[in-house]
Amino acid sequence: MRKTLLLNCAANIQIEIIDIMLALVWIILLSSTLCKCLDNGLAKTPPMGWLSWERFRCNTDCVNDPDNCISEQLFQTMTDIVVADGYASVGYEYINIDDCWLEKHRSHDGKLVADRKRFPNGIKALSDYIHSRGLKFGIYEDYGNYTCAGYPGIIGYEEKDALQFADWNVDYVKLDGCYALPYDMDHGYSTFGRLLNSTGKSMVYSCSWPVYQIYAGIQPNYSAIQTHCNLWRNYDDIQDSWASVENIIDYYGNNQDLIAPNAGPGHWNDPDMLIIGNFGLSYEQAKTQFAIWSILAAPLLMSVDLRTIRPQFKHILQNRKIIAVDQDPLGIQGRRIYKHKGIEIWSRPIGPLYQNFYSYAIAFVNRRTDGTPSDISVTLKELGLINFSGYRVEDLYENVDYGVLYPNTKIKVKVNPSGVVMLKGEVQYPVDL
Ligand code: GLA
Repeated sequence: MRKTLLLNCAANIQIEIIDIMLALVWIILLSSTLCKCLDNGLAKTPPMGWLSWERFRCNTDCVNDPDNCISEQLFQTMTDIVVADGYASVGYEYINIDDCWLEKHRSHDGKLVADRKRFPNGIKALSDYIHSRGLKFGIYEDYGNYTCAGYPGIIGYEEKDALQFADWNVDYVKLDGCYALPYDMDHGYSTFGRLLNSTGKSMVYSCSWPVYQIYAGIQPNYSAIQTHCNLWRNYDDIQDSWASVENIIDYYGNNQDLIAPNAGPGHWNDPDMLIIGNFGLSYEQAKTQFAIWSILAAPLLMSVDLRTIRPQFKHILQNRKIIAVDQDPLGIQGRRIYKHKGIEIWSRPIGPLYQNFYSYAIAFVNRRTDGTPSDISVTLKELGLINFSGYRVEDLYENVDYGVLYPNTKIKVKVNPSGVVMLKGEVQYPVDL
């Protein structure tokens, strides 16, 4: 009797365990079907690659300007150079089409069609080409009725287009916001993100959701935006000038309390493309753009003619130490910590960590235009570097190692007009550890 009771009891426990396990399986299955929220596992560090817009714009004249028009040939050429000239080996991996790749009308069955003359082999062939070279492929569309340059947008075709992108093996989608209603974007951008996810093909999702809302006087819901997008534009398009770069730097500095906390692994603020190597920036200014973009944990999307870039600019774009700052796995966006009389100091906490002490990347920027370099003197402590065991300090452009310095050490840097000095302070452990 006792034995059967025990047996029954054991059987009941077993049945209960099976029930619990079944319930768990259901919960997991349900949550994976219900929660089509972003976590696509992508962009754990800011995306790096090449994007056509700032340099090549909407040049569709392949008859008179065959080498510079938006065409499959341009993207194939840039792919080849990214691989052959060392960009891929320092981390640049996406080759991204921007606007003006489409025919003006969809096909009779409502599909997006690439311009037949400029992309004679179609988008899948270009995507295959880029993948065959070991890189990833990005495309551009717009949430509204038209893209900014007047080509068909996705509204009304969201599901079809998401499936089409998956079919083309797209790895990255930039979704612009022209010809759309900013009030609709909370719904529209999140819906399209879900549709991309439910194709089963992982695609980095770049949104222009906040910038159009800010222009319309709407306060963006950044917590929703970072749930649905891997990166997003907050501000104006970059143009080929130092004034434009300065303007963007000021925006991110002046609005950092609102903007910086939204960045983190998988979700980044996007201050727009790198214009290094084009016509508008001096060597010093180009170094400054790269330094500040890395402090901002910005996507590093070069928009430059890689066929003709001068070696000194290529050198900046391939600076591994500054790229490592940008790509720091902690993903904490840096901030402007000092601004006075044209001198700025920007700081970003990075790894490695010792207890609660971070390492730091520090950029000293000289916004002054009086022709001589400016001296900046500051103790590590004043920069927030207060670990008693000190920091190994290194100049990331000049490749100088200053050894281990301590919180009370005063450092002095000379910063050229519109230039930058970029240091890294790597936190040290106590010697007896
Ligand atoms: C907008 C975007 C740019 C670019 C153009 C294309 O202005 O902000 O980055 O994509 O559209 O028309």
